[in-house]
Amino acid sequence: MSRKVTKAIFPVAGLGTRFLPATKSIPKEIMTLVDRPLIQYAIDEARAAGIKEFIFVTSRGKSALEDYFDHSPELAQALRKKGKTDLLDLLEDTNMDSGAIAYIRQHKALGLGHAVWCARRLLADEPFAVILPDDVIMNDKPCLQQMVEAYAETGGSVVAAMEVPTPQTSSYGILDVEDDMGSVVSIKGMVEKPAAEDAPSNLAVIGRYILSPDVMRNLGQTQRGVGGEIQLTDAIAKEMEDGRPVYGFRFRGQRFDCGSKIGFLKATVAVALERADLGAEFGTFLEDYIDQNSLQHTQTKAG
Ligand code: G1P
Repeated sequence: MSRKVTKAIFPVAGLGTRFLPATKSIPKEIMTLVDRPLIQYAIDEARAAGIKEFIFVTSRGKSALEDYFDHSPELAQALRKKGKTDLLDLLEDTNMDSGAIAYIRQHKALGLGHAVWCARRLLADEPFAVILPDDVIMNDKPCLQQMVEAYAETGGSVVAAMEVPTPQTSSYGILDVEDDMGSVVSIKGMVEKPAAEDAPSNLAVIGRYILSPDVMRNLGQTQRGVGGEIQLTDAIAKEMEDGRPVYGFRFRGQRFDCGSKIGFLKATVAVALERADLGAEFGTFLEDYIDQNSLQHTQTKAG
C-alpha cells in the first residue's frame, strides 16, 4: 500500500522578473488573483489533499511571504472590535498551525531540482508533493487531491500532465508515453524543454508532483541539465532508468500559467467571473466594454 503524502514543497525562490517592476518589492507569489495571493491558492489546494506540513524554499527578498502566513493579532483585534466577523474568518483561514510551516533558503539559483533538493533534510524517507504556485488549476476537486487518489491506486510517482500545442514543448517537461490508459499514463521517459522536433509527445508536465523518496536521493546525484540548471525532470527520469514506475496524470480542471502576464490576466478574469460578489457585475462590464470597443474599432476602420 502506498504511504500517505503529508508534506509538500513549494519552490518560491524565483526572482519573478517577468512581473517587474512589481516584483522589485513584492514576491510574485503574493500577487493577487482579485484578493487572494497566488500562494494562498497553492496552500488551499495542498490542504484539500491532506497535506499537513508546508515547506517553502525561498530566497532573499521573500520575507513578505513569511509575514503573510503569520498571525496578525492587531488586525484581528481591530476587526473583532468592529464586529467584522466575516473578515476575521477570512483572516483566520490564512493562519498556519504552529510548526506546520518551514522556510528554507535556496542560496544559489541552480534550478527547480536544486530548490526541491534544498528541502531534503525536512523529509524522512517518505513520498512528498511539490506544488509550483505559478500553475493555478481550477476545479471543484483540486488537482493535488485528484493526484493523491491516483497515487493511492498506482503507488508510483505521479506528475500532473496536460497536452500542449507542439510548438510549446520547449517550455515544459515532456513525457515519453509507454501506455496511455486515459487519465493515467504510464511513462518510460521524461525530457526537459525539448525542441518541438525532438519532443517524444506533446504531453507536458504541469507544476504538481507526488514523488517517491528515491527522487530526492536522485537529486543529490543529478548533474546540471538544460539551461545549466539542476532539473527535477532529470531526477524523475532517473527513476524510470532504475526501473521504478512513474505515471503522468491528466487532471481535470483548467490550468492557468500565472508565471506569464497573459496567463495571470486570464486567471484574474476567470476568478472574478466565478465570484458570487463580483461575477455578475464584472461579466456585464466585460461584455459592454468589448461591445463598445469593437464598435469604436469598426467605426474607426469605416471612417
Ligand atoms: C518547470 C519544470 C517543467 C514543467 C513546468 C510546469 O519549468 O521544469 O518540467 O513542465 O515547470 O510549469 P519552469 O516553468 O519553471 O521553467
